[in-house]
Amino acid sequence: MKSLFFPRIFSLKHLYSTPLKTLMASSLTQDHPPPDLDNLLSSFPQQQQTEDDTPLSLPEMTASCCLDTPGRYLSGESRVERAWSHWAKLGRPKFIVAPMVDNSELPFRMLCRKYGAQAAYTPMLHSRIFNEDDKYRNQEFTTCQEDRPLFVQFCANDPDTLLEAARRVEPYCDYVDINLGCPQRIARRGNYGAFLMDNLPLVKSLVEKLSHNLHVPVACKIRVFQKVEDTINYARMLEEAGCSLLAVHGRTRDEKDGKKFRADWNAIKAVKNAVKIPVLANGNIRHMDDVQNCLEETGVDGVLSAESLLENPALFAGFRTAGWITGDEESKFDEKLDQTDLFVEYLKLCEKYPVPWRIIRSHVHKMLGDWFRIHPHIREDLNAQARLTFEFLYNIVDQLRELHVRIPLYLKDVKVHTQVAEVSASGASN
Ligand SMILES: Cc1cc2nc3c(=O)[nH]c(=O)nc-3n(C[C@H](O)[C@H](O)[C@H](O)COP(=O)(O)O)c2cc1C
Repeated sequence: MKSLFFPRIFSLKHLYSTPLKTLMASSLTQDHPPPDLDNLLSSFPQQQQTEDDTPLSLPEMTASCCLDTPGRYLSGESRVERAWSHWAKLGRPKFIVAPMVDNSELPFRMLCRKYGAQAAYTPMLHSRIFNEDDKYRNQEFTTCQEDRPLFVQFCANDPDTLLEAARRVEPYCDYVDINLGCPQRIARRGNYGAFLMDNLPLVKSLVEKLSHNLHVPVACKIRVFQKVEDTINYARMLEEAGCSLLAVHGRTRDEKDGKKFRADWNAIKAVKNAVKIPVLANGNIRHMDDVQNCLEETGVDGVLSAESLLENPALFAGFRTAGWITGDEESKFDEKLDQTDLFVEYLKLCEKYPVPWRIIRSHVHKMLGDWFRIHPHIREDLNAQARLTFEFLYNIVDQLRELHVRIPLYLKDVKVHTQVAEVSASGASN
């Protein structure tokens, strides 16, 4: 009965009590994701909250949309049909929260969903550590019933390890996604992410392993090669191996800086035209006009946004930051919301769905960065706190509001906004 009165947050603690293998700190830091995560994996700093460990009964936790049969029994054509019927069952989501280590965690996903996101990826999870370390598993993967459609992303370079990790999450998600795009040094050292582009037979075996054995479909998130023909061949190979949903980040492995390099939508369009499964575009999505243009120009089935959503989690509801409004457009926009409002909503979600403080800290800087530029003393105060509390963070918001700074998010007038939504909703078809 107790679970009825608790937030419906799932942690895997109670389902998988695999004995924790002792992990050497060095091995943890050697082959795990982006730089920030080095810290994460060697220690779990500043964890002050206790996770809600109230177990939910198994029937409550069972996914509603697992497929019946693993893909090994299906021909190529049936797999494509199944990919589309699954996509349709999920409501053909178009506006999607991209995977972000330390940033696309449950409270942030729920905030974005409230403001228009129709699906979301988890942050990348390291498949081997996910299997071996129950502390990592319980802290890094949390979800709840409302957190759907959900795409759980892993990095991996061993098919069996990946399958073991994927099986742990398949009841709680709509796709298991393989990260084939991480370009960071740590991914090079660990031999995963975009560095698997040098070993396509291994990539093929990862995708086949999942598609032959899982009940949920397999998704892949890739970067493009320099030559478009190589990207097309890559995408076709993934489709052939059983990938049911392909997200294409239109930058190469060497184009790490998203602000410096524009994503190549032509390459994404070429992939969309070359494969039969649903394709998502990633890169250059800063506001809803970008969404509309990308859907029209590439013909893709949906878009992912990452960096811009961090600053403006209400992006998919049509809100935009002042930087994306030109002077003569100003009259078309209403000021309905500001980032402090969103930040307060985010904090409330963190109280409901606990996450490590390092994640909350990261979001404070992203959501309130513009405010801190005007009042750097508040940022300095924040940085000086070795341990955060919700009281301190709510107090920051009060201080900013008392200083009467206005940094609104703008919503285009309803007529224009509705047109955008209509075009986006009718977007591309298969
Ligand atoms: C903070 C942060 C963390 C990220 N972590 C991941 C990740 O875990 N997995 C992944 O595939 N991509 C990750 N990315 C890349 C994004 O998903 C996305 O591909 C990239 O930022 C380009 O999208 P954008 O132009 O909308 O920012 C991350 C990006 C950011 C900014």
